[in-house]
Amino acid sequence: MKTLLITAPMPEGYFSQALRQLAPTLDLLEHRDDLSDAEIAPVEAVLAWRLPPGLVARLPKLKWVCAVAAGVDKLLVPELPAHVQVSRIVDADQAQGIAQFVVLMALRHARGLPAYEAQQQRREWKRQPVAVVRSRVAMLGTGAMGSVVAQLLGQIGFEVHGWNRRGEPLAEVLRAAEIVVCALPLTPQTEGLLDARAFAAIPRGGYLINIARGAHVVEPDLVAAVRSGHLAGAALDVQRNEPMAATDPLWDVPGITITPHIAAQSSPRTIAQQFLAGLDCVARGATPPHGVDRTRGY
Ligand code: OXD
Repeated sequence: MKTLLITAPMPEGYFSQALRQLAPTLDLLEHRDDLSDAEIAPVEAVLAWRLPPGLVARLPKLKWVCAVAAGVDKLLVPELPAHVQVSRIVDADQAQGIAQFVVLMALRHARGLPAYEAQQQRREWKRQPVAVVRSRVAMLGTGAMGSVVAQLLGQIGFEVHGWNRRGEPLAEVLRAAEIVVCALPLTPQTEGLLDARAFAAIPRGGYLINIARGAHVVEPDLVAAVRSGHLAGAALDVQRNEPMAATDPLWDVPGITITPHIAAQSSPRTIAQQFLAGLDCVARGATPPHGVDRTRGY
């Protein structure tokens, strides 16, 4: 089955190399803006981060789209025909890596590291009161990522309360939280969920960690909540516009830590293995693993 690879802004080369190592005869095409209709019309499977506008209409034989990632939000474009199956990567190592990143950021905040970093800048040796961390965490999203993050946070002393959209009102959970972690899938229902109202519900001094999608957060509302001193800050591994422009206002808000979507990534080899297993299913007319419910969006 002819496969099209579209991984930008990650280089296609990492993934094509892993795929070719495992399946040397795979009929694989790397995406370019100038691909001709004759080149792409036979494509039946796509492994992608996002689907460029207008592409799907040029793939009359398309049967399966697999995300090169855990999230599929950039693939569920309205023009994708209903019969096309969509899958994602499910990787226990990636979930563990994300959990480690969240723990790193949660402890950095809860143990007051930024204050000591600032003291060091001033060459000031001063002890602040110290206590073991028992902070209350609102864990938004209790799926494959969120549950692993919640477990690791719980193991080291955080008091974690999981929330998903079928549960109690979000504001109630936020009102009880000192740290809010977002691990939700991005859907029309969760886009912009973390807005001025949500930030106002979090008690003063609260902290946000986002490892899901930038579009969960209304970024100007977050900047206002941090600059006003209501929130102590945020760790944003994901942003609405990736890669972030040098002029993005998020860069220089004291208290906001930016990382470039690196909380954890599946290795190209893991992605290639899962993609090839799915491709085999599709070729046999079977359902590929880790399918997404397109009506729910995850
Ligand atoms: C993601 C990923 O979905 O990196 O963000 O896998």
